[in-house]
Amino acid sequence: MNYARFLTAVSAARKPSAIRLLTELQQRSPPSLISLAGGAPNPNTFPFQSASITVRGGDALLLDHTLMKRALQYSGSYGIPELLSWMKDLQKSLHNPPTASFSADRGQMEMCVTTGSQEGLCKIFEMLVSCGDNVLLDAPTYSGTLAALQPLGCNIINVSSDQHGMIPEALQKILEVWDPADERKPRVLYTIPNGGNPTGASMTHERKQKVYELARKYDMLIIEDDPYYFLQFQKPWAPTFLSMDEDGRVLRTDSFSKILSSGLRIGFVTGPKPLVDRVVLHIQASTMHTSTFTQLIVSQLLHNWGQDGFLKHIDSVIEFYRSQRNAMLSSADRWLKDVAEWHPPLAGMFLWVKVKGVKDTQKLIMEKALEKEVLLVPGGVFNINSSDPCPYVRAAFSLSTPQQIDEAFRRLADLIRESV
Ligand SMILES: Cc1ncc(COP(=O)(O)O)c(C=O)c1O
Repeated sequence: MNYARFLTAVSAARKPSAIRLLTELQQRSPPSLISLAGGAPNPNTFPFQSASITVRGGDALLLDHTLMKRALQYSGSYGIPELLSWMKDLQKSLHNPPTASFSADRGQMEMCVTTGSQEGLCKIFEMLVSCGDNVLLDAPTYSGTLAALQPLGCNIINVSSDQHGMIPEALQKILEVWDPADERKPRVLYTIPNGGNPTGASMTHERKQKVYELARKYDMLIIEDDPYYFLQFQKPWAPTFLSMDEDGRVLRTDSFSKILSSGLRIGFVTGPKPLVDRVVLHIQASTMHTSTFTQLIVSQLLHNWGQDGFLKHIDSVIEFYRSQRNAMLSSADRWLKDVAEWHPPLAGMFLWVKVKGVKDTQKLIMEKALEKEVLLVPGGVFNINSSDPCPYVRAAFSLSTPQQIDEAFRRLADLIRESV
């Protein structure tokens, strides 16, 4: 793969920071190294001494004075080595990416830590999307993606989708009209493959295979934004685009926001090294790196747990969301059957509800729902053009108790009946 052809002028112009390279070097050097390089402050002047964090189950994560000094200091832009290596091992055991055995110049699998997957996405878009480019995605989609993409001045082309995600035949129809020599033909496809935000849709393995084949045929990169991968209610978990990436054309974003903490802001980009390296050049010039402190906490936890402990924790998170989902589905059945339609989500934390007899839910929610003391997201905000009418609302089953969910749907049903 020649990755240079995918890069925007801005990304192509990025150059490594000499100072950041020294930080990476220092990170890998023995403690006997005497460094007069870099401009790191002296952590002995910092007020924080040590920390102990209690983990559910009774274990404690201890940041003694030495580790605390490291936690408070600058670190490398790819992420701290022990977290990166743990994550690389996890990616390999979960996805067995063909790219793991590639040579570096052929698009070998590389990873970097990002401040939430949102940072990764935003930087990936800036790397690949120029003003006037045609970008493919299946809307309605995550509003954070639209917020990152739309200011770049691209033309977003909507690929039809249903509860099983993007429809390959619809994608084929869009792609086949382009002359292969046309510079403006789409080169980037974005999708949320599991428990889509807001639709709750999960893509089948077969659809992913077809979409991957189309990406090969039409020479596109796939951005696999998968923060709900670990919230899949059925096992075995669906194979990912990363797992089928024979060419090195998949950039995957993972997130710990839904499973460890959203506030710690830890996400990961996995993809071909030449592209991940470009994302890191952008990180060098912006945040420099994700907080060393939060990376160390998460890394300690993961090393203490091992992969088995991590996956055991994930199972308990899944159990919670599964029972929340089931509670929401039974409340929907109880109250909304006559006034709305929905598909049970197989992953994630959202139910996407189509309100019958209402063309656009914007007014219903923004003006009338508050009076009834119930709040949902009107579906329009997830459309490419947010002012297009949308009969859907997004209901999250993450935070409310089953009793609250039940009462909320009772109020919503009242509201809908009064409005139609
Ligand atoms: C589809 C999708 N992508 C990315 C994100 C960003 O997640 P974070 O930056 O917390 O990892 C979210 C958050 O809700 C999301 O729903």
